[in-house]
Amino acid sequence: MGPLERFQNFLGSFQTEEGEYKYRQRISQMAVRGVNHLLVDFADLVTIDSSLAEEIIERPDVYIRQTEDAALAQLQVEDPEYASELDRVRLRFRGLPEKTQLRIMGADHINKLILVDGILVRASSVQPLLTEAVFRCRRCGTTIPVEQKTPLVQFPSTCPEPTCRRTGPFDIVEEESTFINYQKVRVQERPEDLPPGQLPRWIDAHLVEDLVDIARPGDRVTLTGVVRTIRGFSMRRGLSRAFDIFLETNFIDILGKEPEFVQISPEEEKWIREFSKDPRVHEKIVRSIAPSIYGYTDIKEGILYLLFGGVPKLLPDNISIRGDSNILLIGDPGTAKSQLLQYVSKIAPRGLYTSGRGSTAAGLTAAVLREREGGMTLEAGALVLADRGICSIDEIDKMRTEDRVAIHEAMEQQTVSVAKGGIVATLNARTSILAAANPALGRYDPYRTMIENINLPTTILSRFDLIFLIKDLPEKEVDQRMAEHILQLHRMGAAPVEAPVPPPMLKKYISYAKQIRPLLTDEAMKRFEDFYVQMRTAKSRDSPIAITARQLESLIRLAEARARASLRKEVIIEDAQAAILLMRKSLEQVGIDTGGTGEIDIDIIKTGKPKSLRDKLQIVLSTIVETEKDTGMVEESVLYEILQREFDIRREEAFRLIGQLTREGTIYSPRPGFFKKT
Ligand SMILES: Nc1ncnc2c1ncn2[C@@H]1O[C@H](COP(=O)(O)OP(=O)(O)OP(=O)(O)O)[C@@H](O)[C@H]1O
Ligand SMILES: [Mg+2]
Ligand SMILES: [Zn+2]
Repeated sequence: MGPLERFQNFLGSFQTEEGEYKYRQRISQMAVRGVNHLLVDFADLVTIDSSLAEEIIERPDVYIRQTEDAALAQLQVEDPEYASELDRVRLRFRGLPEKTQLRIMGADHINKLILVDGILVRASSVQPLLTEAVFRCRRCGTTIPVEQKTPLVQFPSTCPEPTCRRTGPFDIVEEESTFINYQKVRVQERPEDLPPGQLPRWIDAHLVEDLVDIARPGDRVTLTGVVRTIRGFSMRRGLSRAFDIFLETNFIDILGKEPEFVQISPEEEKWIREFSKDPRVHEKIVRSIAPSIYGYTDIKEGILYLLFGGVPKLLPDNISIRGDSNILLIGDPGTAKSQLLQYVSKIAPRGLYTSGRGSTAAGLTAAVLREREGGMTLEAGALVLADRGICSIDEIDKMRTEDRVAIHEAMEQQTVSVAKGGIVATLNARTSILAAANPALGRYDPYRTMIENINLPTTILSRFDLIFLIKDLPEKEVDQRMAEHILQLHRMGAAPVEAPVPPPMLKKYISYAKQIRPLLTDEAMKRFEDFYVQMRTAKSRDSPIAITARQLESLIRLAEARARASLRKEVIIEDAQAAILLMRKSLEQVGIDTGGTGEIDIDIIKTGKPKSLRDKLQIVLSTIVETEKDTGMVEESVLYEILQREFDIRREEAFRLIGQLTREGTIYSPRPGFFKKT
C-alpha cells in the first residue's frame, strides 16, 4: 500500500478506547462546521502506523500532501456532497512525539516537521496572500494562471499564445486570482525555559487560512510546522550563503488558557497535603522565601500572598475583579530590594524581571510596529508575557512618567490596550506586580513628609495592595545579626538558616495550591467590614495614599491567598486577621495611623495626630521649654541626651519629632545646633 492508502486506512479504522471512530466522526462533521481542515492527534497515528508517522516527520513535503489527498478521499466516503465542494483538505497535526528546542533549531531541521514550544511575542495584521495569480498579456489579452510559492510574485516568462509569445508586460487580474489569509507571528523561547543570562531566541512563523488570528501576543503556544529557509537576496552581491529560517505553520495549539500546573508526582502530592496541615505552614513558607536575605518578615509575608494570589472574580455584569496582588518596596540603596525581586521572578511560576530604567511604556505593555515589507505588527511587552505570573519591576521610580502611566491599566484591569496604525487590540496581562523604588532623594529623609519622600504619583501608589518602606537605619543589634548572617553566607556559600521548603518544592506547592478557590466565611467578612469602617475614619499624617474601597478588595485577596497557602477552601477569621495585621503595618509605614490597638483613637479625630505621636511631640516641646529656662536656648546634643535618658526616645525618632515641630513652627533654630520655642 502507498502512503495515501495507508493514511486513509488510519482515518477509516482508528478507534478510541471507547470504540468511537474518531476521525470518521471528525470528517463527517466538517460540513456542519464549514471547515476544510482536519485535526489529527499524532499519537493516534503512531499507534496505528508508526513508520508512516516517521515518514511524515522526515519528509513532510511528500507525505503531508498524500495525507491531504487521503483525507479528501475519506471525505468522499463520508460526505460525497461536501467533498465535491472542496478541492483540498488541510491536515493539521497536533503533538509530535518529540519537541524541538527553539535554542537548537537549525540546519538539521530544514524541511522537517517539528514541534516547538514558545510564547507568541509578535503578530502582524492579517493580509491577503496571493496563491494563484492570473495575469493578462497586455498585447494579446490572453489570461495566464501562475501558482505562487515564493516570497516575491512570480510572473509568466512568456505569453503562451503561439501568435504572441511576448515576454510582457503582464497585468495581474485581481478578481480572478486566488488569495488566502496570511499572518506572520514571532515565537520566542518562554522565559521559564531560558537559561540564565541568555537572550531569548525566536523564530518567525507563517500562518495561513484557519490558523490566522487564533493566537494573540502573550499566548503560550505549541506549534507544529515545517522549518523553511528564506534566501537573503542582494542585487549587487547575489545570493547570500547564510539563510534565514522560518516556520511554515501546520498547527497552532494555544496553551495557558488555564493556569499552568507543574507536574506533581503522587508522593509529592502526599507531602504537600501533609505539609499543609502543619499549623505553622505560613511561617515555614515565609522562612523559605529568599532565606539568604536577612529579616524582612513582613515583606516576605506579603510576597507569600503575592505568590499564592487571591481568586479573580467575574461579576454577572461582566466586570472582573483581579485576584492578583501588587506590592511596592520603597527603600534606601543596598537594602536587598533587587535581590528580592530577582528571587521572586525565579520562584514564581511564570516570573519575569525587568528594570524600570530603560523600560518604555511599549516595552512593558505592547507596541505597534511598522514592518519593513509594509503592514503592522503587534508586539507584546513584559506585562503581557508575564500573564498569569509575576512581573518584577525594579527601579520603577526611574521610569519616565509617561511610560509609567502605561502600567495603570494593567495593574487594575489586568489588560493592555493598544490602538495605533489600524491595530486595535486588548491583550491579557493578569500579572502580579512586585516593584521596587528608592525614596525621592535616594535615601529616606526623616525631615521630609511622607509625600515628599515617596516620589510616586498617587494614581500608581493606590494600585499597590501593600507598600513597604525599608529604611536603612543603624541599629546595633540588628546590624550585628545581619553582619553575621551576611558573613556566614559568604563563607558557607549558603544561607545560614535552611529553607524549610526547598525552592523546587515551593514552586510545586504554589501551583498545587492555586487550584483552590477559597470562599469567605461570614466571620471573616464581618471582620473586614469592621476594619474598613474604622479605617475610613482614620486620619493620615501627610500620607500619599488614602483609604478607599481598594484596600477592602486588597484585604480579601490577601486573606484568600493565605487560605490557599494552607490548602483551605474557606477564608477563616485567622486569615482575615493576618491580612489586616499586614495591611496595617503597610499603612503605618506610609503614614496612615491605624490606631494600633484596633479601637478608634479619638485623639486622631480631634487633632489629626495619633495619640502616641502627639504625646511624644509634647514631651519634646516641654523638654525644650524646661531646659530653656536655664540657658535661653537648647543645644541639640543635650536635647537628644535628655530625651534618650529620661523618655527613652531614640535619636532617630527625636530627630524626626524635632523636624516636625520645626516645620509646624512650634520651635525654631536661632543658631545652628540650637533650638528655642517660638
Ligand atoms: N537584609 C539583607 N540580607 C542579606 N543581604 C543583604 C541584606 N540587605 C542587603 N544585602 C546585600 O546587599 C547587597 C545590595 O542589595 P541590592 O542590590 O538588592 O540592593 P537594592 O535595595 O536593590 O539597592 P538599590 O536601591 O541601590 O538598587 C546585596 O548583595 C544583598 O545581598
Ligand atoms: Mg536595586
Ligand atoms: Zn500575449
